[in-house]
Amino acid sequence: MSNARIAVSLDQPIATINPNIYGHFAEHLGACIYEGVWVGEKSPIPNTGGMRNDVITALKKIAPPVVRWPGGCFADDYHWEDGIGPRANRPRRINVWWGDAIETNEFGTHEFVRFCDLIGAEPYICGNVGSGSPRELRNWAEYCNFAGDSTLARARAANGHAEPFRAKFWGVGNENWGCGGHFSAEDYAKEYKRFSTYLRDFSDNKLCLVACGPAGNNPDWTRKFFSTLGTYHRIHGFAAHYYCGTAGTATEYTVDEWYHLLWRSLEMETLVRQQRATMDSFDPERKIGLFVDEWGTWHPAAKGRNPAYLWQQNTLRDALVAALTLDIFNRHADKVVIGNIAQTVNVLQAMILTDGAKMLTTPTYHVYDMYQAHQGGQSVWMACEAEGITFQSGGKNQRLPSLCGSASLKKKVLTLSIVNTHATNTVEAAMELRGARCQEATVTELVHTDIHAHNTFDAPETVKPRTRKLQVSGPEWRYAFPPASVTVFNVPL
Ligand code: AHR
Repeated sequence: MSNARIAVSLDQPIATINPNIYGHFAEHLGACIYEGVWVGEKSPIPNTGGMRNDVITALKKIAPPVVRWPGGCFADDYHWEDGIGPRANRPRRINVWWGDAIETNEFGTHEFVRFCDLIGAEPYICGNVGSGSPRELRNWAEYCNFAGDSTLARARAANGHAEPFRAKFWGVGNENWGCGGHFSAEDYAKEYKRFSTYLRDFSDNKLCLVACGPAGNNPDWTRKFFSTLGTYHRIHGFAAHYYCGTAGTATEYTVDEWYHLLWRSLEMETLVRQQRATMDSFDPERKIGLFVDEWGTWHPAAKGRNPAYLWQQNTLRDALVAALTLDIFNRHADKVVIGNIAQTVNVLQAMILTDGAKMLTTPTYHVYDMYQAHQGGQSVWMACEAEGITFQSGGKNQRLPSLCGSASLKKKVLTLSIVNTHATNTVEAAMELRGARCQEATVTELVHTDIHAHNTFDAPETVKPRTRKLQVSGPEWRYAFPPASVTVFNVPL
């Protein structure tokens, strides 16, 4: 019998899990916005104001709290005035970052805010620093948010929205160490001050201004940025990006490559700890939130697809990456305030794939569905003790934990999520609830006998969760976690 143990201590709260940790990211890239969200009002695909009903319904179900838009790299070459007013008059531009595709600007600020309303999310707008001006960005905020009688507020009303949008989250550029202008940390900090000085609240809804953080876990960028920022205080968020990459391809990988990618995804924990620690030395009261506003897997381009469009399949392995990452965010609820997986539809680690009128939800989508109950819960201490896994990577032995997870409490219901990373072995564990007793639980499992399993348009339900009741009397019970699985217990206390 295995001597693995999972302990949850209800008396050791960590922090409230900010629902925004479960955020999304949708860029003008490949088929994310055009085709994935926007098909136009005249499309034969059923739509609401031009946006696909099937995608709206699926997204609404997983309660997305926030969506970041319009990029990504696209953001620093986007001029918001191109995307307002009668669609027939909007200019056609070149999407220089993503395959020189023609950007019709049919989907602009009004369409984005409507999309957010339809799925119940808050808009998170990423502004243009690389090729824009402070004036352009402050005007966008005024256009969106000003409740008074200015020319820009009148223009918004003339374009169909008299009420201010009250958009709260504003990114001041994207990846400004790279596609957002190739700035040094010091130069970007100076630009950040210049741009954010003029980004005013313009309504009763206070803005949350977000600075560009490092590429991955680069403490050097963070230190230099904050040192240059000095005592300047118009900053509320600092956003790191981390892509764990790939091993093999999206759908073809060995068992070692399965482990390698999961292991890479766990580096998010180091990023969260080290970035927050570096920020703490400048911001000990944590007035500035740590964002991870792009993260996920990034596989080689799928055969027959335009490599610039970043379309990839999404397997059970991607689902485990999502679960491991969300568990890290939950366990570090005192450190992470927003997470935005890249991206919502048809790009990178997508929730949804579309093909003409067809749509499917991916294994990653199902993890977001299963983890919904963590949103806004009180993260509590938990620990997994189980024999680790040794695997080969680059000719070296590496170690991966076999069980990982997180626990949270909301309205007297404990949500406990556990990932078994083992590709072939069931891991049976003793489950101990400290500080509570329970009788019955609901358990939902996402699992498949094939570690490469994924959903296709012909077989869209190959990987989907299954829920059942479980008798769990007392503070301790045993559970057998199947190989390559994500399990979520909902336990009324
Ligand atoms: O998500 C795809 C791209 O990855 C984004 O545009 C950019 O910010 C990042 O490098």
